[in-house]
Amino acid sequence: MSLSLVGLSKTYTGDSGADRTEVLQHIDCHIEDGQFVSIIGKSGCGKTTLLRIIAGLEKASDGQVLLNGENLIDRKGKIGLVFQEYALFSWRTARKNIEFPLEIRGVDKAERKRTAMAYLEKFGLKGAENKYPGALSGGMRQRVAIARTLIGEPAVVLMDEPLVPWTAKPETTCRNSCSRYGSKERKSSSS
Ligand SMILES: Nc1ncnc2c1ncn2[C@@H]1O[C@H](COP(=O)(O)OP(=O)(O)OP(=O)(O)O)[C@@H](O)[C@H]1O
Ligand SMILES: [Mg+2]
Repeated sequence: MSLSLVGLSKTYTGDSGADRTEVLQHIDCHIEDGQFVSIIGKSGCGKTTLLRIIAGLEKASDGQVLLNGENLIDRKGKIGLVFQEYALFSWRTARKNIEFPLEIRGVDKAERKRTAMAYLEKFGLKGAENKYPGALSGGMRQRVAIARTLIGEPAVVLMDEPLVPWTAKPETTCRNSCSRYGSKERKSSSS
């Protein structure tokens, strides 16, 4: 699935309209199926805002987001976003967090568990499956969040600063797992 941004702009305005922050101006970009793209810029330049607009969580002030050339209103299930703040469910264990997209889809319990355990292993989380997010390190929490997104097999994967809290080894493990996801499943990814 290809992803195009056409003349995308975003200005935040305060309630009175006086407090204006111009964050994005005329962004044009085309990402082909299977491509990995990184968005790099200083803090506050608008990276998260751009990802939120692509995911449909924020409205652009101008411009369009096209999936396979179509301006889709309902992007549900097509785009997976790994949030900068992880957004894990604190009351679910690591495995149950990862299983969540399969649970919504109605996959049976044994199959959910088997698939989630495979993702836990791929992301260097074996042994942490029964821990709650509060008992995981920052890097482990982020890997659970990434695994939870990828297990749902979205066509486009957006990741907001996914590698920040990581030490070298898990970063490499996860980078490899994400690359395999991109090449094997032919997904488009932005991060
Ligand atoms: N809901 C909002 N209302 C008003 N201004 C906002 C809102 N969200 C973000 N901003 C402003 O938009 C700008 C871009 O924010 P954004 O979170 O996209 O930056 P970022 O590049 O992701 O930064 P960081 O690297 O620190 O995560 C900032 O000036 C921020 O204050
Ligand atoms: Mg950000």
